[in-house]
Amino acid sequence: MSTTDTRTKETRSFQAEAKQLLQLMIHSLYSNKEIFLRELVSNASDACDRLRFEAIGRPELLEGGADLAIRVSIDAAARSLTISDNGIGMSRDEAVAHLGTIAKSGTREFFAALTGDQKKDAQLIGQFGVGFYSAFIVADRVSVLSRRAGTGAGEAIRWESDGSGEYSIEPATREQRGTDVTLQLKPAEDELASGSRIRAILRKYSDHIATPIRMAKERWDKDQGKYVTGEGEETVNQATALWARPRAEVSEEQYREFYKHVAHDFTDPLAWTHNRVEGKQEYIQLLYLPSHAPFDLWDRTARQGLKLYVRRVFIMDDAGELLPRYLRFVRGVIDSGDLPLNVSREILQESRDVHAIREGAARRVLGLLEDLAGNRQDDYAKFWGEFGQVLKEGIGEDPANRERISKLLRFASTGKDAASDAASVSLADYVGRMKEGQASIYYVTADSRDAAGNSPHLEIFRKKGIEVLLLTDRVDEWMLTFLHEHDGKQLVSVAKGDLDLGELADAEEKKTRERVAGDYQDLVARVKAALGDRVSEVRVTLRLTDSPACVVADRDEMSQHLQRLLKGAGQKTPEMKPILELNPQHPLIERLKTESAEGIGEWALLLLDQAMLAEGGQITDPAAFVKRVNRMLAQGRPPGARS
Ligand SMILES: Nc1ncnc2c1ncn2[C@@H]1O[C@H](COP(=O)(O)OP(=O)(O)OP(=O)(O)O)[C@@H](O)[C@H]1O
Ligand SMILES: [Mg+2]
Repeated sequence: MSTTDTRTKETRSFQAEAKQLLQLMIHSLYSNKEIFLRELVSNASDACDRLRFEAIGRPELLEGGADLAIRVSIDAAARSLTISDNGIGMSRDEAVAHLGTIAKSGTREFFAALTGDQKKDAQLIGQFGVGFYSAFIVADRVSVLSRRAGTGAGEAIRWESDGSGEYSIEPATREQRGTDVTLQLKPAEDELASGSRIRAILRKYSDHIATPIRMAKERWDKDQGKYVTGEGEETVNQATALWARPRAEVSEEQYREFYKHVAHDFTDPLAWTHNRVEGKQEYIQLLYLPSHAPFDLWDRTARQGLKLYVRRVFIMDDAGELLPRYLRFVRGVIDSGDLPLNVSREILQESRDVHAIREGAARRVLGLLEDLAGNRQDDYAKFWGEFGQVLKEGIGEDPANRERISKLLRFASTGKDAASDAASVSLADYVGRMKEGQASIYYVTADSRDAAGNSPHLEIFRKKGIEVLLLTDRVDEWMLTFLHEHDGKQLVSVAKGDLDLGELADAEEKKTRERVAGDYQDLVARVKAALGDRVSEVRVTLRLTDSPACVVADRDEMSQHLQRLLKGAGQKTPEMKPILELNPQHPLIERLKTESAEGIGEWALLLLDQAMLAEGGQITDPAAFVKRVNRMLAQGRPPGARS
């Protein structure tokens, strides 16, 4: 709000969510309080990166010093700690917008997910990211003095808060551009006002920060028996871009901490891959798989993509162009040796270099996933649970890698080894377990695992012990329009077409089939007449064992499930009528043969509605269905039925 008076001190309230977040964080993260320093240093380093980038086009912003650095200083007497940087700084409006609110996608989902259970919520808040507010875990007062690069010394601002709901903001003076964040430590946090303690925390969490972090030197004073402030300053981190170091020189711990910085995540990554590509294109890639999905995985506006650097200079965050969309969960850094420093989003979209980088990154990530799937199966299962649905999009989006991706797919199934709910069966597992004479890979699609597992279409497969994959993700139907076969075996829906089990059907069954087709010709015609154009066809089937009837779609038509999905998404679907199949071995159907014309009409409608419901579908007139059922229950048979 730029209409406020910028010359006087003003007190404002935190945004309601920010207030709630603050309280929650102070309580749930106390056991992990040291992370406040990592968060503040991470912000200071981002501020230096942003200045370096803006200065490419406006070198005057670097006036007063191009040596970008972070300083951490301690005032033991005052019990305060200051984190300073000479980065981009904040204007008054920016401070109000960034320090008083949470401007993050996924905020609503985050609050909805809170349980009130401290342990669980601590985990969640870690996933959400705490950032600047983490200062209040250890401080009872935080003050920020900041001056935006390119503005005058008198245009600085001072922002202050005790974290209880309000903050003040007033004009101030700062000699140079940049930001000081000063924490007035809580009485119980005295131990943090110690140089050696702070050094240890910085080395642990912030060693990978490419900007130097400087502290006053300390020397041992024999007389006092403790460290005292010495002459000059020293750099306490390695201060080189971590991704530019050889792999052998980076420890696992450092990789993990670096991830938390680039990914704005709080939990450890699941896996990573780091390498330098040489040849026509030169670039470094350091790519991470997170261990959990963010709150905004399905939010189209969510941040995605990688951090782009050009020869160590930070260019932009969230460069979605560097990865295909179906890998949007990957985090990390690409550092290009070839792109110009003034590269813009527009150039990124057009550039052939960027295309090559994107393809390289996709191959690299798929390689990492293959490695997990082969050698770290528990981790792969974890990955699949979090991001499997997103990876499935790749089947349609990335034809060049379709085969590789299809090998990474995992499904729930009716197979013995897949009794658990987790989707754990690969297409190769399935093919390896196929029965003799089985030519196809069978699957069923439905809204939920239960609906899929109880589908009447599975009856014959159960009877014959043939495994069926259970597909219940929204993306599955779409994916299946691109995935027709695996290893030379067709993928076949159990709910489509005239089920032909090929060599799996024995000779006896083939005979029965022919016989019942003849026997039921008359009944089928009468049921069809009763249902009129509610169905496209009525026929007898051998696919059922327990249910009297089911609906199926024609081989080339959309399944009922896909029609529902499209309707749910507000899309028009062509009017497609189901085929009603009757189970000649079921007593109900057998009885129908001797039913009156009126009775057949009632039964036909009931069977159709039932079959639709069993599919997870909706019936056109639920009230009429209920009436019909009640009437039959009351009479023990449909009206007009012969006794
Ligand atoms: N030292 C700083 N210099 C300039 N701007 C800063 C500084 N510290 C914080 N900010 C601004 O405040 C915003 C909020 O910081 P905060 O740490 O809460 O979130 P973030 O860094 O964007 O994300 P994360 O939750 O991952 O830390 C930053 O995005 C930045 O715009
Ligand atoms: Mg931050």
